[in-house]
Amino acid sequence: KLTLDLSKPGVTVSPMLYGLMTEEINHSYDGGLYAELIQNRIFKDDPKGPAKWSVVQSGGGKGSIALDEKQAINTALTTSLKLTVDGSVGRTGIANEGYWGIPVKPQTTYKASFWAKATDEAAGPLTVTVESNDGATTYATANVALTRGSWKKYEATLTTAAGVKPTTQARFVITTNRAGTYWFNLVSLFPPTYNNRPNGNRADIMQIMADMKPAFLRFPGGNFLEGDLFATRFPWKTTLGPLEDRPGHPGCWSYRASDGMGLLEFLEWCEDLHMEPLLAVYAGYTLKTDYMPAGPFLKPFVDEALEEIEYVTGDVNTKWGAQRAKDGHPAPFKLRYVEIGNEDGFDKSHSYDGRFTQFYDAIKAKYPNLQLISTVGGKDGLGSRTPIKSRVPFAFDEHYYRNAWQMEEDANHYDNYDRNSPKIFVGEWATREGAPTPNMNAALGDAAWMSGMERNSDHVIMSCYAPLFVNINPGAMQWKSDLVGYDALNSYGSPSYYAQKMFSTNVGDKVVAITGENIPTQTRPATKRDSTAGIIPKPIPAMFYVATRDTKTNTLYIKVVNASARAQVVTLDFKGITGIERNGTITVLKGDGPEDTNTIDQPTKIAPVTKPLVAVNKTYSCAFDAYSVNVVQVKLK
Ligand code: AHR
Repeated sequence: KLTLDLSKPGVTVSPMLYGLMTEEINHSYDGGLYAELIQNRIFKDDPKGPAKWSVVQSGGGKGSIALDEKQAINTALTTSLKLTVDGSVGRTGIANEGYWGIPVKPQTTYKASFWAKATDEAAGPLTVTVESNDGATTYATANVALTRGSWKKYEATLTTAAGVKPTTQARFVITTNRAGTYWFNLVSLFPPTYNNRPNGNRADIMQIMADMKPAFLRFPGGNFLEGDLFATRFPWKTTLGPLEDRPGHPGCWSYRASDGMGLLEFLEWCEDLHMEPLLAVYAGYTLKTDYMPAGPFLKPFVDEALEEIEYVTGDVNTKWGAQRAKDGHPAPFKLRYVEIGNEDGFDKSHSYDGRFTQFYDAIKAKYPNLQLISTVGGKDGLGSRTPIKSRVPFAFDEHYYRNAWQMEEDANHYDNYDRNSPKIFVGEWATREGAPTPNMNAALGDAAWMSGMERNSDHVIMSCYAPLFVNINPGAMQWKSDLVGYDALNSYGSPSYYAQKMFSTNVGDKVVAITGENIPTQTRPATKRDSTAGIIPKPIPAMFYVATRDTKTNTLYIKVVNASARAQVVTLDFKGITGIERNGTITVLKGDGPEDTNTIDQPTKIAPVTKPLVAVNKTYSCAFDAYSVNVVQVKLK
């Protein structure tokens, strides 16, 4: 039985509770959200050779390709692709394999562009195509007239026919039938993007996020903010402006970042999805544990953070606000939250207290209204063991990566947190069961954990799951269990995605007090490992619940997680109300057991289903399926 006491006002639910966290991992942007289709477009991914590129030779065409460091266009585009064509028969050219294929869809217009130059005899028409990997089928084609002389940017549009069958088994090709030497750089191909933004994002993945109605976006990391070395921290200044000015940089997750998704693109992503930015600034600590202690040598990093904040918020009369205007966005962005670093609790030198203080004082002096978040200093969570003492942050960022049992065992984690301490931002959390995307058991763990965060959302004011994205192709993933998966053509939400969407889109503004009686329990299966492995743990609850009320519409959202193997019939007892509408709904997320999951081929095998509830009254019996996440929605009279 669950008794909901509506006589008391209840604590306020944070309107910022559910957000998104993102960084370049698992090909989140390059080969993911960022819609660019050409992999290694400026030829810097591998200094040993033109990775992802190959030579095309057919009908007697003969040629070779190589990297060339002697034909720089500017300081960003220093490596070009040199194509040597030996004869004037047949077809010779260059092909890019894309990010695990080039997506072909019917009636789709692609925008191609590239920088090129050639020896005089080679000037003339080039053919640009999207074609099958064996070259036998042309899906879309265009001609470009290559002129004599120095480097020049060329553009073309290519459109597929209506009857084309969708495939990823395609490549992007530029060919010629004239002998000579050709050089290429910044070769780019974009499909239509969300809101038709130039240099924009994939529409399908943006829609998946839009459906969650996220309140904020934490960017650009995560470890990607820190980088392995000082020199490879997120280089926000070289992520600005035209693509030809962006050299990219070595990411920390084993591949180079193009930085096509730059600081302005992150902000426009926020704008498109009506999210507030939560900007993480580099704080002088690297993943390989080097650090800059507080003092004069840290100052350049502090200044860099101040400039970055000015880029986001400054008006056009400021230096960096003017730069933003030049980059195409004169209006300043709203910014309330800045996080200083990432997981600085792993800094064994304990330098964070000093570093945080130096950033805090400089930022507060210029931007007193900004809320500054510390990456350590909370009671719990990964990397929270080094307390900060000198300044009081607005919030502590705590991280939790666990299995389902651990999440369920600790679902009431925040019930007794000290309300007089800084607020809590759960900046990374996930139940890590299933790969590449989590399974239904993970969704149950997630939902149990979210019930605890929501119940305590007067204090846990923000949260975001991590990682958000994974390209599911072999070799693309660095971190198992990611919320949303995709290949070049399709995308899908995991059961954890749907659990989260159910929570974030069904929430009121006040928490309702609930007490449970006779809640079923569960015992950890012998195969499940956790921190107490080897010890037979005490049984824990198998049901988790939280309720909120929308005081404007008088709607109640009751979330019930049934992690047990049996359907449970629960009496919902509503106290302190005058009456309740007879008709409500129940939205149910369940699969064929806890190991069941969604995949790229079965993207909605597990998805929420909404059914009517009839004859609801003040004491109402409701059944919750085995291994299910549920939202009961009813209206008070
Ligand atoms: O989410 C993956 C990584 O986990 C993040 O980059 C880092 O902050 C954490 O350790």
